Amino acid sequence: MDAIRTWGLTKNYGRRTALRGIDLSVPAGPVCGYLGPNGAGKTTTIRLLVGLLRPTSGAAAVFGHDTVRDRERAQRLVGYLPGEFVAYPDLTAGRYLEHLGRLRGGADPSAVARLAERLDLDLTARIGTLSHGNRQKVGIVQAFAHDPPLLILDEPTAGLDPIAQREFLAMVREARDRGRTVFLSSHVLSEVEAVADRVAMLSQGRLLVTEAVDKLKSRAQRRIDLIFDTDPPEEPLRAVPEVRSCTVAGRAVHLMVEGSTARLLQVAAPHRVVSVVTHEPDLEEIFVNYYSREVPQP
Ligand SMILES: Nc1ncnc2c1ncn2[C@@H]1O[C@H](COP(=O)(O)OP(=O)(O)O)[C@@H](O)[C@H]1O
Ligand SMILES: [Mg+2]
Repeated sequence: MDAIRTWGLTKNYGRRTALRGIDLSVPAGPVCGYLGPNGAGKTTTIRLLVGLLRPTSGAAAVFGHDTVRDRERAQRLVGYLPGEFVAYPDLTAGRYLEHLGRLRGGADPSAVARLAERLDLDLTARIGTLSHGNRQKVGIVQAFAHDPPLLILDEPTAGLDPIAQREFLAMVREARDRGRTVFLSSHVLSEVEAVADRVAMLSQGRLLVTEAVDKLKSRAQRRIDLIFDTDPPEEPLRAVPEVRSCTVAGRAVHLMVEGSTARLLQVAAPHRVVSVVTHEPDLEEIFVNYYSREVPQP
């Protein structure tokens, strides 16, 4: 059963349409990134998933529980980090998390302490006095503390320092390895790329594509530099079907290759290659490609 499923999920704010008929399915297990630029509709989707908004039309379900009709049961399965995490400013982080734990029927207090320690969060500080990044840590701790089967995290790494960010990504991987499902939104692709197995890409309220990160990367163009110790075999290299462009500068060849590099390396190998440098494509480029190819400009 899918951890998240939506059918024609649509949300209007007044006359403005924020989501247009999203059909999303997120299988239980892998980490799924939800990517899109600001204003794409990520937060709207997530609020619908956690039952804070009602769809204008269409429906959503969490582990088969409808997020409107079966709201409470759906909510119980989710750890949720809102995009703008606001909590009670006068409470200390520790008291707030204790309070939430009680509301949820007794989250393990040692889990809170452990998570806070990992993120280097001071539980004795009042929430109102915390920096944006530290408040974000409180939000992350409350989402993870009861170890829910599904984590829905809206821009979780926003405002985190690099060390906390790395720790957070490790927490996500560990949650996945425990069999939890993580759905996390971001407009910063490198963050999601580091942890997601799949990504769903959203633009202007429409779902563009849902794909395995590996597959997206394999379809992407990557740059490869080959250095030879004689004149490069330019013509045979250009003739390789995956080669999109080829520039020769002395004994160096700069290539753009789409998909597999196997044939290219076969052609190059007999010609005394002294150095091969490959540059991994990042999702940012892939993303831009999708936009320019598949989204009509307004
Ligand atoms: N409460 C609201 N009232 C009116 N418009 C809204 C509201 N919340 C979001 N929007 C609009 O809906 C669209 C999607 O917003 P949002 O879901 O926050 O996108 P994202 O999280 O991807 O940045 C944007 O055009 C935004 O301006
Ligand atoms: Mg948002």
